[in-house]
Amino acid sequence: MTPRKIIIDTDPGQDDAVAILLALASPELDVLGITCVAGNVPLPLTARNARVVCELAGRPAVPVFAGCDRPLARDLVTAEYVHGKSGLDGIALPDPQMPLQTGHAVEFIIDTLRGLPEGTVTLCPLGPLTNIATAFQRAPEIVSRVAEIVLMGGGCFEGGNTTPAAEFNIYVDPEAADIVFKSGVPLVVMPLDVTHKVLTTRARIEAFRALGTRVGHAVASWTDFFERFDMAKYGSDGAPLHDPCVIAYLLAPNLFQGRHINVEIETGSALTRGMTVADWWRVTKRPPNAMFMREVDADGFFALLTERIGRL
Ligand code: RIB
Ligand code: CA
Repeated sequence: MTPRKIIIDTDPGQDDAVAILLALASPELDVLGITCVAGNVPLPLTARNARVVCELAGRPAVPVFAGCDRPLARDLVTAEYVHGKSGLDGIALPDPQMPLQTGHAVEFIIDTLRGLPEGTVTLCPLGPLTNIATAFQRAPEIVSRVAEIVLMGGGCFEGGNTTPAAEFNIYVDPEAADIVFKSGVPLVVMPLDVTHKVLTTRARIEAFRALGTRVGHAVASWTDFFERFDMAKYGSDGAPLHDPCVIAYLLAPNLFQGRHINVEIETGSALTRGMTVADWWRVTKRPPNAMFMREVDADGFFALLTERIGRL
């Protein structure tokens, strides 16, 4: 089977890192490039961290690009309180030797979509949607060429994790999210409603460590670090492993269930900025624009993730 061509747009962050590893471990996927955006930590660090992860996976040839260093219309909000100052706290890994690509991430997204047949490239945003929205603004003709966007962001019944109304990726750049959700590109959304059901319990972290590999040890160390904030906040047994849900969907979509509904982004209100207004009960006549996930087979997700991480 021909591997599915994807671009991962990311703000690593430990959960982004695990998502990238899952993608690089999976022959079903052809990672055309990794585009970095400011989010969890500033752009210089997300661009560093993406390369650290590629080298950890033994894949220094994956092209990594730096993109937008701030949201379209807002000041940057970062999340060191969750991810640590480096964005990959939990284990000290060497600075990357592989170079950052000289071109801008947005140009890479545009050029890749222009250069490949329509409907062959899937975009996988794991952070704020600034790069994607900028590409769509700069080259509107590429929008119809995108096969699908599978993203982590938003929330409905789970509310928000950054404000009571908003999840971080959408909160940081609501204008960018509004562009993407109104673009007409087929969307699959992994909101907090799903990611809060894939918790890094002790047993699941120890399963990574029991792999006995350098990558397994790194993933266990990251999730050990990453979970402390969410466990204190939610009182949960483990932390939500948000971003790998995007890649897991590409590999095993049947792990997830949701509804094709209308989702719009709040950009005007200071109180609810970045809220994904998800019409789950279809009470409006607004046309559906997103497959909004709500259920996941968590054990199946972690079985897939652990097996694939074990391949690296
Ligand atoms: O709200 C969780 C999301 O924000 C994840 O993508 C995490 O990495 C941060 O980017
Ligand atoms: Ca992320």
